[in-house]
Amino acid sequence: MKVQAKSCRHTPEPSSLYAKWMDADWTNLRGEFPVLKEWTYLNTASLGPIPQCVVRAANRHFEHRDARACLDFLDWFSDIDEVRAKLATLIGASPDDIAFIPNTGSVLSWLLTGIDWKAGDHVLTLSDEFPNNLYFGGALQRKGVHSSTVPIPGDRFCIEELIECLTESTRIVLASAVNYSTGLRPPLDEIGEELKKRNILFYVDGTQSVGALSTDVAASRIDVLGVHGYKWMCCPPGTGFAYVAPHVREWLEPNVYSWRSHRDWRNVDHLHHGTPELPASAIKYEGGMQNFAGIYAMGAAVDLFESLGRGAIEEQVRVISAATRDTLRAAGAELLSDKHTYYDAPIVCGAFEGVDASRLALELQGRQITVAARKGRLRVSPHFFNNEEDMTRLADGLREVLPLLRG
Ligand SMILES: Cc1ncc(COP(=O)(O)O)c(C=O)c1O
Repeated sequence: MKVQAKSCRHTPEPSSLYAKWMDADWTNLRGEFPVLKEWTYLNTASLGPIPQCVVRAANRHFEHRDARACLDFLDWFSDIDEVRAKLATLIGASPDDIAFIPNTGSVLSWLLTGIDWKAGDHVLTLSDEFPNNLYFGGALQRKGVHSSTVPIPGDRFCIEELIECLTESTRIVLASAVNYSTGLRPPLDEIGEELKKRNILFYVDGTQSVGALSTDVAASRIDVLGVHGYKWMCCPPGTGFAYVAPHVREWLEPNVYSWRSHRDWRNVDHLHHGTPELPASAIKYEGGMQNFAGIYAMGAAVDLFESLGRGAIEEQVRVISAATRDTLRAAGAELLSDKHTYYDAPIVCGAFEGVDASRLALELQGRQITVAARKGRLRVSPHFFNNEEDMTRLADGLREVLPLLRG
C-alpha cells in the first residue's frame, strides 16, 4: 500500500529523502502500536512503545506455561537460544557471544569485578555520558583506579581529543553508540581501530542505537556491547543482551554463579555438585533462570525488524530524523546537528532561545505529544513508526506553545 503525500502545514526543507518516506509502506505497521492512536509518540529515547506482536509473544509464553504445566521448561532454553542467534545476526556476532541481561549495569558489573584492576589503571569515557558509564570509574576509585572523560567542548567531538586522553595505563574506554542527552554518535569504527592498536578494551552501550541504527561489532572492534532493549528495540524493560568477544571470554570471569554455571546444566535430573566447569560461551554470564517472557518478546521484536528489513528501518529512521530536524529548525531551534558532525542520530536535540526546555516538553506532553527535555534542550526521538503527520502535529504544537512560554 502506498502512503499518499498529504498536505503539510509546516514547510520542511526540500529533501529527496522525503520521496522515499512517501513511497514506503509503513501504514499497516502503525496499527501494531496502539499508543499511536492517541499520542504523537516522539520519545523512544526514554522508552520505546511495545508493538502488539511483541506483547503477543510474551502472552503466548504465559499461556504455554499453563498448557504444559511448565514441564517443558528446558525447551524454553532451546527457544531462547534461537533468539540468541537472531540477536547475534543483528550485530554481526555469533550466538556463543551473546548473553541475556536485565540491564546494562549488569554488563558493567562483569567488567568491574572481572578485570584485574591495579592501582594506577585508567578508565576513560566521554563527557556527558549516560551515568552508567560515568559511574564506572567512580566505582573503582577505592582500588586506586583513576578515571577521566574526553572533553567535548561546545558539544564538538573530535577523535584526536580522545586519542590524547589515552595513556599507557588506560585499560578500557566506555562509550554510548548514541548519547542519550545530545544525540552524539561518536565514530565507533575509528575509535575501535585506535583502541585495538593500543590493546585497550572497548565497551559500547548500544541501548540508544540497536533497533534503529546498524551495529557491527567486528567493524567497530567492540570487545563488549551492552544493549537494554526497552528503547529502540521496543521491548519490555528488563530485557536486553550483551555481546562479549571470544578473546574477552577467555579471561573475563562471571560474577554470578548459579546452577547454569556448569557446562552440563541441562542435566537437571542429576545436576553437577562439584566445582562448575564454565561453558565457553557467554551463557556463563547469565546466571540461572531467565526472563523468558521478555526474551520471547525480544525475539518477536527482532522478527518484526527482519520482516521490515534492517536496512529499510535504518533508512526510515534517517528520513524521519531529517524531518524532525527540519521541523525543529523551522520552529526556531538551534540544533547540535547543524553545528557539528557526528549528530546524525534519531535523538534530535534543540535549544529554543528564551524557552525553558523542561516546560516546553511538559506543554507538548499536555497536548499528547511525547517528547523530553535533557540538559536545557528539547529532545525529540522519532523511530521508524513515526510519520509525516506526527511531524505536522509537532510543528503545530510548537507553534502554539512557544509564544506562550516566551510570554
Ligand atoms: C545509553 C544508555 N544506556 C542504558 C540506559 C538504561 O540503563 P540500564 O540498562 O542500566 O537500565 C539508558 C537510559 O536512558 C541509556 O541512555
